[in-house]
Amino acid sequence: MNIILFGPPGSGKGTQAKKLVEKINVPQISTGDIFRKAITEGTELGKQAKRCMDHGQLVPDDITNGLVKERLQKEDCKNGFILDGYPRSLDQAEYLDKILCKMNKKIDCAIVLDVDHSLIVERITGRRTSTKTGKIYHIKYNPPVDEKEEDLYQRKDDKEEVVIERLNVYNKQTLPLLDYYKNKGLLVSVDGSQNVDKVHEEILGILKKWLN
Ligand code: AP5
Repeated sequence: MNIILFGPPGSGKGTQAKKLVEKINVPQISTGDIFRKAITEGTELGKQAKRCMDHGQLVPDDITNGLVKERLQKEDCKNGFILDGYPRSLDQAEYLDKILCKMNKKIDCAIVLDVDHSLIVERITGRRTSTKTGKIYHIKYNPPVDEKEEDLYQRKDDKEEVVIERLNVYNKQTLPLLDYYKNKGLLVSVDGSQNVDKVHEEILGILKKWLN
């Protein structure tokens, strides 16, 4: 099962992707996580990505496309994958179609998490991530049992002014993609403002026909 998860920053893509991985046993491919790992490791990719991410801008398409192509060819993607945060521009979507076609694969479903922009800043500023497990928490909606044990950190691009720019970029460059997938009959919308478990149940309901 090959899935794309869309949605504005803070809509819950990462949270839902991680829950789906446990359920359907295909890998989550998060371009944001790949870039953050490269930044932590101090690689050349990390340096290039950091310059864009710190300002809420997209990392150039040629860099991102090359990374995803390589990742999709890994053995663990043979039974499917969950794309989280990719594609994010028309160029990326067309590139994805091309490489999947060469691999004799296709996207089965593109799910968009609809969340009102008023909720987004609260969600993002309250987000904390575990350095140990990568698990995503929220100080109000999903606090960890033991904060010290998880060694939580706050993302650098979660400052309010960067979040606003990320939302602008989403509206300008990523929203037009929804029509791209709608026209292919692949787009399904989910109310992402519900609690985490309700959103998860709804997504599983959509994916039911591929799960049996
Ligand atoms: P990326 O890491 O993909 O960030 P994003 O798309 O802005 O999305 P977020 O990770 O902020 O949010 P999310 O939707 O995953 O929400 P989460 O589950 O964490 O990208 C970062 C940057 O990398 C980009 O700005 C760009 O520079 C670069 N980049 C990445 N991909 C790229 C690409 N393809 N091309 C070019 N550049 C790229 O949830 C948020 C918070 O809300 C958490 O605290 C969570 O606990 C809480 N929460 C989640 N769901 C709920 C719920 N239902 N109810 C209450 N709280 C909830």
